[in-house]
Amino acid sequence: MKEKFYITTPIYYPSGKWHIGTCYTTVVCDSIARFKRMQGYDVFYLTGTDEHGQKIEQSAKANGISPKEWVDKQVDSLKKLWELFDISYDKFIRTTDPEHKEQVQKIFKRLYDKGDIYKSEYEGWYCVPCESFWTKSQLKDGKCPDCGREVELAKESSYFFRLSKYADKILKLYEDNPCFLEPKSRVNEMINSFLKPGLSDLAVSRTSFKWGVPVPFDDEHVVYVWIDALTNYITALGYASNDDTLYKKFWPADVHMMAKEIVRFHAIIWPAILMALDIPLPKKVYGHGWLLFDGGKISKSKGNIVDPVELARRFGTDAVRYYLLREVPFGQDGLYTNELLIKRINTDLVNTLGNLVSRTEAMINQYFNGILPAFSEEGEFDSDLKAVYEGLYDKVCKSMDSYDVPEALSEIFKAAARANKYIDETMPWVLYKEGKTERLKTVLYNLSECIRILAVYLKPYLTKSPDKIFSEFSVAENLQGFDSVKKFGALKGGEKVIRGEALFKRIDLEKELKDMEAFAEKQKSEKKEEKAEGTINILEITIDEFKKVELKVGTVTAAEKVEKSQKLLKLTVEGDRMSTIVSGIAQYYTPEELVGKQIVYVANLKPAKLCGIVSEGMILCAEDESGVTLLAPLKKVKNGSGVS
Ligand code: MSP
Repeated sequence: MKEKFYITTPIYYPSGKWHIGTCYTTVVCDSIARFKRMQGYDVFYLTGTDEHGQKIEQSAKANGISPKEWVDKQVDSLKKLWELFDISYDKFIRTTDPEHKEQVQKIFKRLYDKGDIYKSEYEGWYCVPCESFWTKSQLKDGKCPDCGREVELAKESSYFFRLSKYADKILKLYEDNPCFLEPKSRVNEMINSFLKPGLSDLAVSRTSFKWGVPVPFDDEHVVYVWIDALTNYITALGYASNDDTLYKKFWPADVHMMAKEIVRFHAIIWPAILMALDIPLPKKVYGHGWLLFDGGKISKSKGNIVDPVELARRFGTDAVRYYLLREVPFGQDGLYTNELLIKRINTDLVNTLGNLVSRTEAMINQYFNGILPAFSEEGEFDSDLKAVYEGLYDKVCKSMDSYDVPEALSEIFKAAARANKYIDETMPWVLYKEGKTERLKTVLYNLSECIRILAVYLKPYLTKSPDKIFSEFSVAENLQGFDSVKKFGALKGGEKVIRGEALFKRIDLEKELKDMEAFAEKQKSEKKEEKAEGTINILEITIDEFKKVELKVGTVTAAEKVEKSQKLLKLTVEGDRMSTIVSGIAQYYTPEELVGKQIVYVANLKPAKLCGIVSEGMILCAEDESGVTLLAPLKKVKNGSGVS
């Protein structure tokens, strides 16, 4: 029976803004899954989407559609992206799948019945865009430590998972199983930053929004992110369902792969949930680094988006996949720049691989009418070349066993470079001139065999070029797998060799960079226009709806800075009554500038607490690139005058 191998990516937030960093985990996992399949494993590769939560509920609302319609659209575009990048997943799970929802409810109930989930009250600093509660000490300058936005103090009834109970068990897990979490540096981070200071119980339900899996025995609550999201790794296999065949076959996972910022959830919360459910733990959690762009993480919230579809259109998916897999030292951060991408393509794919293939094809066509000669006469440099190729399997497997994809690729390209060197050493054109035909046959045979072997090794990483090579060299199907590469010399000779188009086209660095920059600028301005148009469409309202908004003129009678906030001012506004309004304009106006000014404000806004102050309205401002300016009547009017 085949050995099984179960690999997962995190499930993605359907934000709709996919960037080149988004593709990283998925492409890495894809290359590992493909590699394992080639080794003969029975592989299950899982990916999917994490579709619940307040942020989604809000995005859908802002776009005037239901959360389900919103996520359907985003998931559709994500699936298209994975298709473009040839992602060979075996299952795409959505947390909105009805089966998953039912399974999550069963899991929640199991944990509750065991006493590992209990009801209490939660208070914390909540960041709406990140959907995260933070303790006061975790805040950075009073703001969300992840995105730097304002947070609000929030309190709500919540169910809690007894995470604290598992701290010692998790420490022991790391001790007994040093390979559970990798790279090793992440273990220290977990111990020092989270386990040693002590784990608090984890709020696992919310009442503040509805877009989630309902807690089965309490209508007020929806299951909050982690029990809904993390359990996808077992619900996808049918755990807690009528058919758990896949679960029995594939669990525990061989590796959960993710970027470092969510290691904490996978290396602490997830094992604790599994321990509470009394089921085996995954064999490994691997926290890779980030793809960085202009010094920051390519992040959806920061808006530094590099469009993977456009990159694939320009350079082909093989080139983009290769860049992702080769450029980021595994486990560490890597940099994305247009220049690095182009240089990688020109150096490795064009110069090393492409050249080797096109030179060999050209020589076989020129000297032997496009028919591969059979091996003929052993000569100088041959044994060294063979040794490199015959030693490659162990090296590549060793790197891939530790999921070090860049290292595996580096070994493969070293072998490609060795073959190029062999051309320089043997100088086939001189052999031809001197009529050393037998030796020339061997040299071209050896080069073709090197190319075949390289194509086999490249199959997990590049999904198009290896097939092109096989077809141009007429490589039989039984010579396209790992079985055929451990021993040099599988090609027979006599195969037809066609001169194909260049595998990768050389890119004119300067010209391309300029073009890419111009494209990016154009895209930016088109996005702005789209946004503006979109805003009109999305916010189309009837006159009756507009009439619901009570706009008034009022005079600011007092103003002061809000303590602990750099953005907020507390204003006292005299309209038809006195109102307190907290406004985010501290960067643009000093309190002194405002006192005595007439402004326009929304007078019937539902009061909201901002930094502990109840704000009863909203000041109207105009905003452009230069900043924010208050709206005011052109001449003084009576306080409390309506605006229509
Ligand atoms: N929904 C959670 C995961 C829940 S898993 C039970 C989530 N989603 S995400 O869409 O924000 O991220 C999905 C994956 O993409 C994560 O591994 C994330 O770290 C990765 N990346 C997003 N931007 C990235 C880079 N710039 N570089 C590398 N990986 C990045 O987190």
